[in-house]
Amino acid sequence: MDEEFLLLNPGPVPLSRDVRDVMSEPMVSHRSADFEETYARLQDGLRYVFERSSPTGEPTAAGGTPLALMGTATLGMEAAIASLTTEDSRVVTLENGKFGRRFSRIARRYASVDTVTAEWGESPDIEEVRAAVDDRTDVVAMVHNETSTGLLNPVAEVGEIAAEHDARFVVDGVTSIGGDAFYLDEWGVDIAVTDAQKALAAPPGLSAIYIADGAEGHLDSGGPPFYADLEWYSRKARDHQTPFTSAVPLVRGMGVAVEEIEAEGMPDRIARHRRQARAIRAAVDAMGLELFPTVKPPTRVSNTVTAASLPTTVEADEFFAGMDARNVSIAGGQGPLDGDIFRVSNMGNLSAEDIRRGVGAIAGALNDAGHGVDKDAALAAADAELAP
Ligand SMILES: Cc1ncc(COP(=O)(O)O)c(C=O)c1O
Repeated sequence: MDEEFLLLNPGPVPLSRDVRDVMSEPMVSHRSADFEETYARLQDGLRYVFERSSPTGEPTAAGGTPLALMGTATLGMEAAIASLTTEDSRVVTLENGKFGRRFSRIARRYASVDTVTAEWGESPDIEEVRAAVDDRTDVVAMVHNETSTGLLNPVAEVGEIAAEHDARFVVDGVTSIGGDAFYLDEWGVDIAVTDAQKALAAPPGLSAIYIADGAEGHLDSGGPPFYADLEWYSRKARDHQTPFTSAVPLVRGMGVAVEEIEAEGMPDRIARHRRQARAIRAAVDAMGLELFPTVKPPTRVSNTVTAASLPTTVEADEFFAGMDARNVSIAGGQGPLDGDIFRVSNMGNLSAEDIRRGVGAIAGALNDAGHGVDKDAALAAADAELAP
């Protein structure tokens, strides 16, 4: 792929040169000391990301177990649910987008499930969550940053309810961890899941899990699953190993990616992501477009993925062809939102210039599709937010 290609999809995201290079180093055995050293470095980097995801760099947790799973975030979501439940368990899920729905679908394979729903792109009702969770609830599972609609769900408020009933709390931070604040202890998160290929800017194929200190005792290793048994994974992680053959090149790539995050520092990284998301939102506004989600506090708009409604007069195919012609990739709507919205990611290691180029391409593609927008005004609005 030509170097000028700009990937602004909500995963996978562009990889640094060092991440790409390390993946082509000669192969070693996944049971060698060399691999254990690589995996230990990855765990150190993951510990930094999970435990320092605050705008000030203040610790957000300590003493838990960070590990990588040899499969994408959906495996991480399934491993978390499956390892905390038996078939008699009761799970409450929150669903206001595609990935909340995925948690419900996973949980139904393992336990009985109550789901609190809101329209895609709308805020969940905390009182409905309060009514759904009781002392019989074993697990509450939710998505923090709902990538399909570009909103940040109220994890703190739901975590408080889970804690009141001593339910385990599983949170998908797939498109927030590594790019936005994530307060593991304060929110009472027992297991957090993230993907390699999102804000961590690592290659697709792996996910990362953080099992909070104290949550390990709740992991069941007796029943299913076998391949995604978190108790087994966490036991092996103590020796810097994984239960089965590791995806050695991907582990190396993710190791370098998290070291790059540590070099930038989470406070600067969070500030940069928030600045870039503000710039994209300001440009959307300057183009006269509407953000897709309609958020009511404590729900907020995402700082990593911006979802905007396509004007009804614009043919989605024509708009995306205009983006392709500019060599910039963004995403469309998923499921019922196909053809109605577009989504722009600012996850990873993007520069202000990348964001400007994305904004310019969107304005150009809209103009080509017959919807006149002021590209200069959009760029000026973005510039006003991009300055650190
Ligand atoms: C919030 C969220 N959760 C889970 C997933 C699933 O990730 P994967 O398809 O890599 O398993 C995604 C993917 O976009 C996501 O955005």
